[in-house]
Amino acid sequence: MHTGTTLTQFIIEEQRHVAGATGDFTSLLNDVVTSVKVIANAVNKGALVGTMGALDSQNVQGETQKKLDVITNDIMIRANEWAGHLAGMASEEMDDVYPIPQKYPLGKYLLVFDPLDGSSNVDINISVGTIFSILRAPVAGRAASAEDFLQPGTKQVCAGYALYGSSTMLVLTTGHGVNGFTLDRDVGEFLLTHPGMKIPVDTREFAINASNRRFWEPPVQRYVEECLAGTEGPRGRDFNMRWVASMVAEVHRILNRGGIFMYPRDTKDPSKPGKLRLMYEANPMSMIVEQAGGISSTGYERILDIAPTGLHQRVPVILGSKNEVEVVLGYHKDA
Ligand code: AHG
Ligand code: MN
Ligand code: MN
Repeated sequence: MHTGTTLTQFIIEEQRHVAGATGDFTSLLNDVVTSVKVIANAVNKGALVGTMGALDSQNVQGETQKKLDVITNDIMIRANEWAGHLAGMASEEMDDVYPIPQKYPLGKYLLVFDPLDGSSNVDINISVGTIFSILRAPVAGRAASAEDFLQPGTKQVCAGYALYGSSTMLVLTTGHGVNGFTLDRDVGEFLLTHPGMKIPVDTREFAINASNRRFWEPPVQRYVEECLAGTEGPRGRDFNMRWVASMVAEVHRILNRGGIFMYPRDTKDPSKPGKLRLMYEANPMSMIVEQAGGISSTGYERILDIAPTGLHQRVPVILGSKNEVEVVLGYHKDA
């Protein structure tokens, strides 16, 4: 029986093209895939298993944690700490770097993740996701410090996300294009269903949380006003709008049918230059978007070029279809 290409098979075949590959990375990715399958199961059980709702705790960024934020963070840790591939892990849900317990060997990679993206949606059965990024540890076999993680997004070895939607998907890049896999729950494997994903260069669909409108900078104000003006405005065409409030779902839509997503710089809280986190959200998604032919920028600079200054640093994000993002970047230059 022909089952199609499994994710494991795909990764091993990719590894054969990398001179000197030891299989370490392939094995790490397999563990990440296992964690994603376990999370898919936990999320899918919904209200049946008492994991809905919030905790009393807040994460380091002052956000109230959902029960599933903590459960999924734990799943990521347990599935990835033991195998000897990692020198440390960092997550949106942990204040500091997670050190690999002494009973396990240390490896040459760093794993960075947002275990549950869009968690405000998890109680109401709307798509959520997991975002991850793999970096090389500056020194293999040494416990990683926070500084070791502060590498620009261009240094990512791999970036991916899992989308727990009407089906569970895993979308992945190792710097050679973007491929999408769908979980066959009966078989328990991800199968290649979306090879060579490319973002259409043009779009008539934008995504932004318009409730922040009064806080936006003039270039974003101008762009959205012109979209809303439709055929009567300077763009001369009607636009459509979407906002899921799960970045993973948003980026996935854009990868499939184009679009532009913005969580731009705003003046709502001057201590935060954006909402999304550089290490856990913006960098991995930017690598995927660029590998699929799109653009990802703060409005002023390419996200992947930012030299991080802190693990939990936030950045403005404008990403998606090339020609449309270029319009917004042009307005930033004009301003
Ligand atoms: P998280 O659930 O990991 O905290 O991330 C939520 C993020 C992102 O996924 C989404 O695009 C955005 O926050 C939604 O923000 P609003 O609540 O302002 O709509
Ligand atoms: Mn998130
Ligand atoms: Mn999260």
